Amino acid sequence: MSTFPYLRNRRLRASRAIRSLVDETRLSIDDFLCPIFLIEGQNEKQAIGSMPNYFRYSLDTAKDELKILQDMGVKALMPFAKALDESKDNAGTEALNDDGLMQRFIRMAKETCPELLIFSDVALDPYSSFGHDGIVKNGKIVNDETCDVLAKMAVSHAKAGADFIAPSDMMDGRVAAIREELDDEGFEEVGIMAYSAKYASCFYGPFRDALDSAPVDEKDVPKDKKTYQMNPGNSIEALREIEMDIDEGADIVMVKPAMAYLDIIYQAKQDFNTPVSAYQVSGEYAMLKASAANGWIDHDAAVMESLTSIKRAGASMIASYFIKDFVRITQ
Ligand code: PBG
Repeated sequence: MSTFPYLRNRRLRASRAIRSLVDETRLSIDDFLCPIFLIEGQNEKQAIGSMPNYFRYSLDTAKDELKILQDMGVKALMPFAKALDESKDNAGTEALNDDGLMQRFIRMAKETCPELLIFSDVALDPYSSFGHDGIVKNGKIVNDETCDVLAKMAVSHAKAGADFIAPSDMMDGRVAAIREELDDEGFEEVGIMAYSAKYASCFYGPFRDALDSAPVDEKDVPKDKKTYQMNPGNSIEALREIEMDIDEGADIVMVKPAMAYLDIIYQAKQDFNTPVSAYQVSGEYAMLKASAANGWIDHDAAVMESLTSIKRAGASMIASYFIKDFVRITQ
């Protein structure tokens, strides 16, 4: 009795109505974190070559954008600031500037749309003359010194009004360092979303274009981030990273990128009692946009299928550049 012809799975696919009743994964605007790129200047809305229909905003145009996003129902923003070249060094000086672009954005956002949650990125790459997430010494990214700077950077964001600190640097012990410094400074209510399982992925390319933050060495030769971001072949290591970040005080753990790492999202959801966030990164966006622009895939279907698969795998929330497309498609 437990198989064909008594059971016919197609009964539950026979009409739109029955398909909707048995639908297991439904996306809503409440599931998303929205990245936003910031630049200095005024009245700027700059196109990003490798991210069609995504822009860099100066603070004044960002303010209008915030209201648009809030009206769409967006609950959370992930700001990324493109630092001026002349402000970059190997110490994260600009990252700690309480009047830096990121900090000014956070203050403006909290005044303009106080309910919009701000998840601020903590890592040194946009501020580093080497494009690295940490301080470089003798060709190495030094761990503990970097953590000290990241912790101070987190406090600077918290002072500006950030709701969650999102360390994306992959240094060991940075979650503990940030938690401790936040608590010492009276920001115990500020949360941490850790980029816990962040892979050394080629899919960050367009993001590095957007922020002009591609890693290089002293001779300006392109470098990778393989001494701190993870090897794409590893999963045990991902679970260990997640476990340690939770122990150190992460409120939310992230897997990044998303589509090539759905198994990691799934496993993290099974193994831990902490919400899992997934980042559908810039290269995933660029890939789908380019393919659709060539007429090779159906854009809207690809957007919905990719996002649905990330949620099905176990993500409680998804950072994605497709939020406006999602809202348009589902309206
Ligand atoms: C910086 C950071 C990166 C991304 C988010 N934060 C780039 C990197 O690690 O090189 C990538 C996001 C994307 O590709 O959309 N630490």
